[in-house]
Amino acid sequence: MQKFEIEGGVPLEGEVVISGAKNAVLPLQAAALLAEGEMTIRNVPRLKDVATMALLLEGMGVTTSIDDDNNITTNTASIETQCAPYELVRTMRASILVLGPLLARYGEAEVSLPGGCAIGSRPVNIHLTGLEAMGAEIIVADGYIKAKAARLKGATIVMEMVTVTGTENLLMAAVLADGTSHLENAAREPEVVDLANCLIAMGAKITGAGTDTIIVEGVERLQGVEYSVLPDRIETGTYLAAAAITGGKIKCTQAAPETLDAVLQKFRDAGAKIETGEDWIELDMRGRTLKAVDIRTEAHPGFPTDMQAQFMAMNTLSQGIGVVVENIFENRMMHVAELMRMGANIRLEGNTAIVAGMPELHGAPVMATDLRASASLILAGLAAKGITIVDRIYHTDRGYEKIEDKLTAIGARIKRV
Ligand code: EPU
Repeated sequence: MQKFEIEGGVPLEGEVVISGAKNAVLPLQAAALLAEGEMTIRNVPRLKDVATMALLLEGMGVTTSIDDDNNITTNTASIETQCAPYELVRTMRASILVLGPLLARYGEAEVSLPGGCAIGSRPVNIHLTGLEAMGAEIIVADGYIKAKAARLKGATIVMEMVTVTGTENLLMAAVLADGTSHLENAAREPEVVDLANCLIAMGAKITGAGTDTIIVEGVERLQGVEYSVLPDRIETGTYLAAAAITGGKIKCTQAAPETLDAVLQKFRDAGAKIETGEDWIELDMRGRTLKAVDIRTEAHPGFPTDMQAQFMAMNTLSQGIGVVVENIFENRMMHVAELMRMGANIRLEGNTAIVAGMPELHGAPVMATDLRASASLILAGLAAKGITIVDRIYHTDRGYEKIEDKLTAIGARIKRV
């Protein structure tokens, strides 16, 4: 199994080009199922999850290809089946995103029920009740969600919790439904807005994306378009954290500062100097003291759960005590025990971690348990004294494109072994 070997202690300095967002491209790939004709998605990050989604579509008979300029082209003309098998869904929960579009366009879908995962049980009940409200008949049998609908009907759906992929699934279902849908308590994440913008370009009638009520007037058909994916705000935040935790200076380019307000505020609270332009963010931590910050994860525009582990790593080396509360997932604290193996002082009480900053961390062998946990261990390793070996980096490869190349270019000593 591949690992990262990191020799810590180098302040990182330089420029990093940010890739397209994982959590934006996956719904766009699923949205390609709605398109008549060819669909091209630009600025696609080369990630394991993107490849898995492409395999899922290919398995249905959809042609997909990726070129050297990071464009994915998809054509649904030769689709043969509307099934998402267990073998792929179990490796990537975001596979559930094909359910809404398949049902809306083809009137049926069979999608393996995603199981729990390392960060929580992650049910999909809200996706299913929303589709049922649009008239779908759904049964769950043999581990599969089997859904049918002659044509979905517009409906008012109040989602009982804010769910990102749930909102995306219902949005992709509503665009081809008969009549108007109101999606209430909708997720306001930038990736939802990106999907809505792409669907609008394809011919959908959507208003309110980015607010908690999205209104969709169903149309008869959607066309394939060319669409460029939003920059990855979590990748951006992770590189900013790499400079902050090592006392360096970094400029992230091809970024989207407006998607990171809550995160940038926390970097400022932590003592960093932050400057932004239209598509870049610069963080300077040179000669400054890292201060502990309190974090409470929330749905957007609150502080994202996908940046919690990285700020936990920063808190371990900061001045003072930071309280980190995880409100989105019930089991997203697995990095705590690993950080403690490197010398971090953390007390965990349920979903709350009380982190007392230490003067230093020490390199150790550690194990990644999920994507963002892997990022926090890499960050800790970059700042620790000595050598850190991060195991199970297949988690990292799901969501960070060429991470060792990007870190090496700004001075990190990291290699894949
Ligand atoms: N939930 C339910 N029922 C549902 C759907 C969700 O109870 O039907 C609960 C979940 O269990 C969770 C909460 O609602 O407690 C919010 O989960 P959400 O559905 O918003 O998460 P998701 O859509 O499965 C996406 C991202 C995650 C990110 C979360 C929260 C994608 C592909 N994944 O997941 O990304 O953490 O939103 O922002 O967009 C990551 O990139 O590392 C990652 C895990």
